[in-house]
Amino acid sequence: MTAAASTAPGRADRRYLMCEPVHYTVSYEINPWMDKTRHTDADLAVRQWRTLRDTYLDLGHTVETIEPIAGLPDMVYAANGATVVDGVVYSAAFRYPERQPEGPAYQKWFADRGFVTHTAAETNEGEGDLLVVGDVILAGTGFRTERSAHAEAQELFGRPVVSLELVDPHYYHLDTALAVISSSSAAPQVAYFAPAFSAGSRAVLEQMFPDAILATERDAVALGLNAVSDGENVVVAPGAVDLSAALRERGYTPIPVDTSELLKGGGGAKCCTLEIRS
Ligand code: ARG
Repeated sequence: MTAAASTAPGRADRRYLMCEPVHYTVSYEINPWMDKTRHTDADLAVRQWRTLRDTYLDLGHTVETIEPIAGLPDMVYAANGATVVDGVVYSAAFRYPERQPEGPAYQKWFADRGFVTHTAAETNEGEGDLLVVGDVILAGTGFRTERSAHAEAQELFGRPVVSLELVDPHYYHLDTALAVISSSSAAPQVAYFAPAFSAGSRAVLEQMFPDAILATERDAVALGLNAVSDGENVVVAPGAVDLSAALRERGYTPIPVDTSELLKGGGGAKCCTLEIRS
């Protein structure tokens, strides 16, 4: 069998929003990866971020940027800033006070550009916990986003929202435990780290994606599930070697990009990338 004769449904142009980490630091701890006593290097974070941005540009995607705000070091994790489906923006409403000003900042970015924005009534952390796969939205809960936000998102977007319970604090956002590999409606595909989910949620994932890529612990601890796919190319942490091999076997092209400095805040490539779906 030739691996290249695969199920990879093909690349689609993407439009991403990112925020340069000029104010990057770890000054508070809201997930187990964060350690205030550890040295951070904002210059290195910026260099790694620029490599990530340039990788998207080289792949032919569009990258927009939002102005970083001093005092909001986690703003680099743009995925948490909102969820955008069919051009409709569902604002983020963050769990922890340290990040709460980010919600209105991202919402304003979209409103200023003519998007219809909806101010969330329920606590949700954007695409950190709301992932579009084909015609459905997978929604994480357990640490950050409330289940009530899943219902709010379903009403707003008119797409089925499937709730998934996260149980390991290291994988506190859905996008740290599950990667959307193909969002094509015809052949949706995901990769996930099963131990991050409750038994019931694992059963749901097995039913929905019987052919999913099952990531190893080695992939998960490298935050390899925090990957960005355009349906063909998958930008992934270099340490996620098992995941990369599995992707290659199925005809995808893994593109390793080192975001180790941003891992100190508990994020990787996907966390830095908000998809604008129009
Ligand atoms: N320090 C941030 C937090 O704990 C990291 C967010 C990572 N973003 C993500 N999409 N998983 O909120």
